[in-house]
Amino acid sequence: MNPQAVTFYDAHPGTADLRAEVLSGLSAETRAIPAKFFYDERGSALFDRICELPEYYQTRTEMAILRRALADLVELIGPQSLLIELGSGASRKVRLLLEELRPRGYVGVDISKEFLLSSTRRLAHDYPWLDVHAACVDFSAGLELPACGDAARKVAFFPGSSIGNFDPDEAVSLLRDVADMVGPGGQLLIGVDLKKPVDVLNAAYNDSAGVTAEFNRNLLQRIRQELVSDVDPGSFEHYAFYNPVLSRIEMHLVSRDAQCVHVDGAEFAFERGDSIHTENSYKYSVAGFGALAQRAGFVQQAVWTDDAELFSVQLLRRASRLHPHA
Ligand code: AVJ
Repeated sequence: MNPQAVTFYDAHPGTADLRAEVLSGLSAETRAIPAKFFYDERGSALFDRICELPEYYQTRTEMAILRRALADLVELIGPQSLLIELGSGASRKVRLLLEELRPRGYVGVDISKEFLLSSTRRLAHDYPWLDVHAACVDFSAGLELPACGDAARKVAFFPGSSIGNFDPDEAVSLLRDVADMVGPGGQLLIGVDLKKPVDVLNAAYNDSAGVTAEFNRNLLQRIRQELVSDVDPGSFEHYAFYNPVLSRIEMHLVSRDAQCVHVDGAEFAFERGDSIHTENSYKYSVAGFGALAQRAGFVQQAVWTDDAELFSVQLLRRASRLHPHA
């Protein structure tokens, strides 16, 4: 028996989606490219560097909260569950949980195949007692997972406040998919970034080392590499700000000059100062997220925050009576 074997399920969310979504996104009146396309290999590496930045409080705060919540979590979740991590990436946070929680199985779900495979293989190697699965899925387009460990109690893990990338209505529909996936008695452990003073938020997305700017512009680099395109990443400026009316950070790429950009034979004209909207990152209050979760059929079972209330980790349980319009 090979303890490092990982059961792999590939839903192929690849270059075809990038092409279709870039072409339609640049043709729209408000130009936008979905944030999920940030995470090619270089993008994922840049994001890892963001997580280490002094201004980017999220990652280390969430880790500290998880560490402090661990004993409670073991009690509230119990052993022998099937742990399903959404957007598993480097899977660093889940290692904290695995040792103590002792689930019977783990499913890593991510859009980035190479990252997913290498990280789940490492998990399978480090935790030989764990039944490890990998599902390459774009879960923003539905949560179709292979049937693994169907009998087990399912617990979804969605760290990093990635839920913030979705508009509130999209977030509700994603959480409904998660509620359907975990089933009756199932739970969701989710990291949610909180509303806070605007200067703290703006600094986190405009770091002094310029890593976030590189991360943002890498989207154009990726288009240049994976599609047929002459776009020059250096001709666009990183622009990120907190929008308090919509409670979200917005990231844009703003054209430094008038220019024409070609992608797969299509031509897109930019005036100086024209923007491509590349990311939203919504911020919530604890109560506000509770209300959103409720629309998806979840109730807040427990909420942990750091002392400065920068970030929250929330354990949601699927309500016994499901929402009426699922
Ligand atoms: C991975 C979506 C949580 O919104 O803070 C970091 C991505 N973008 N810096 C976030 C991101 C710019 C991040 N999430």
